[in-house]
This record gives sequence, C-alpha cells and structure tokens, in this order.
Amino acid sequence: MDDDVVLSAPLFATMDADETRTLFESMQQIELSRGDVLFREGEPGDRLYVIASGKIKLGRRSNDGRENLLSILGPGEMFGELSLFDPGPRTATASSVADSVIYELGHDQLVEWIEKHPSVAKHLLNALPRRPRPTPAPRPARALPDGPARGAQPRRDLSTRFGEETDEGIRVAHDLTQEELAQLVGASRETVNKALADFATRGWVRREGRAVVLLDMDRLERRAR
Ligand code: CMP
Repeated sequence: MDDDVVLSAPLFATMDADETRTLFESMQQIELSRGDVLFREGEPGDRLYVIASGKIKLGRRSNDGRENLLSILGPGEMFGELSLFDPGPRTATASSVADSVIYELGHDQLVEWIEKHPSVAKHLLNALPRRPRPTPAPRPARALPDGPARGAQPRRDLSTRFGEETDEGIRVAHDLTQEELAQLVGASRETVNKALADFATRGWVRREGRAVVLLDMDRLERRAR
C-alpha cells in the first residue's frame, strides 16, 4: 500500500509531517471490490474518503431517472467532504469501478482532531474543495459539443487522472463499461461507441477492453475543443 499517495491528498497538504501521520493513522482503511457501492445518494453521511488505490465513480440520478456520472476519481483524490462538515444526505452515489483501497475520516473524529490541533482547522478549510451542496433541483445535462467531440472530451480528463505514458501514446485504463463512459459524457452509448470507432478508424485511438490508447493526442485535443 502506498501511503504517500494518501498523504499527498489536499487534506494533508498544509499540515506538518507529524500531524499528517497522526491523522492518517486514525483513519480507517476500507477495501472495495469492483462494483461495490460505498454509499448512495440521499443516504445520511458524515464521512470523507481519500483514495489510496483504484477508482471511484460518483453518480447522481437525474429527474428522468437516468444516472449521470459526475466524476471518476483516482488515487490521492477525496470525496464525501460535503457531509463531513455538514452531515446530511449524500449528494451522489459512490461506487468502485475497480478494486480500491480508501481511507475514511469521520465527522466526530475530525472535530476531536481539530480540538487538539486548532491551527489545522484553518488549513483544512482551505484544502477542501469548495463545492456547494446542490439544491434538489435536477442538474442540467452537461453542455458538451455534439457528435464525435463528445467522445473526445472526457478522455482528456480520464487521461490526466489515469493515463500512463507508453511508446505508442497514453494508455488510459478507465475500467468503465461503455454505458458508464456514456454517462460520464452525458451522451448515448451509441454516440460514444460511434465516436470511438471513428477515432479508431482514423488511427487516433486504439481500444483495448476497458482501456484506450490515445495514439494522436493533438488531433483528439483539437476535436474536443
Ligand atoms: P457528499 O455529498 O458527502 O457525498 C457525495 C460526494 O460526491 C460529495 O460529498 C462530493 O464529494 C462529491 N460530489 C458531489 N457533486 C460532485 C460533482 N459535481 N463533481 C464531483 N464530485 C461531486
């Protein structure tokens, strides 16, 4: 297990090494298998999670019942912070798309920690993402270009998170099904499939199961604009 990945999370960024270690050691480790649901949208929650390894997807149901994929997070990233300081219903469902190890920090634990280390509170508030708790109103579909460009855009995000340089190009082991990829870009499975097939024919990408090798990053970048 690579502790360094967790210790590099923004949560710890401004703490000194001893403080970081103590807080980290008080966090509970959780192992998830692919497909496990950690929590569901609407459930009460008061814990924050830091990813040590694997991938976590965050999804929200839209009014028409469709699942929107908000984000795929990887090692060193955090989620669940909305309920950490403000315990309440989870604003999204979190599940693992690959075998994952995550660390949990509870609200009570955090309060106790802050009482002992008041100076850390200020840093913590700066380190956590400023994401407003969404209102119950449905989230509008993400405005993305139509057609093949839809397929190009999210992979840039996935590629910076999960990309691995190879001789041929960047290999992105996204671990997502086609359905999940489509939910991530807010397009239909057919559109995403068609875009990927089109890119493959042009020699811009090569598909390998739940991974894709980005062979021509320049063209993909241009297409995503
Ligand atoms: P919480 O509401 O506690 O549980 C679900 C988590 O998903 C939430 O905290 C945030 O950490 C995360 N989250 C909510 N909305 C988004 C979003 N639009 N993009 C990325 N992550 C989100």
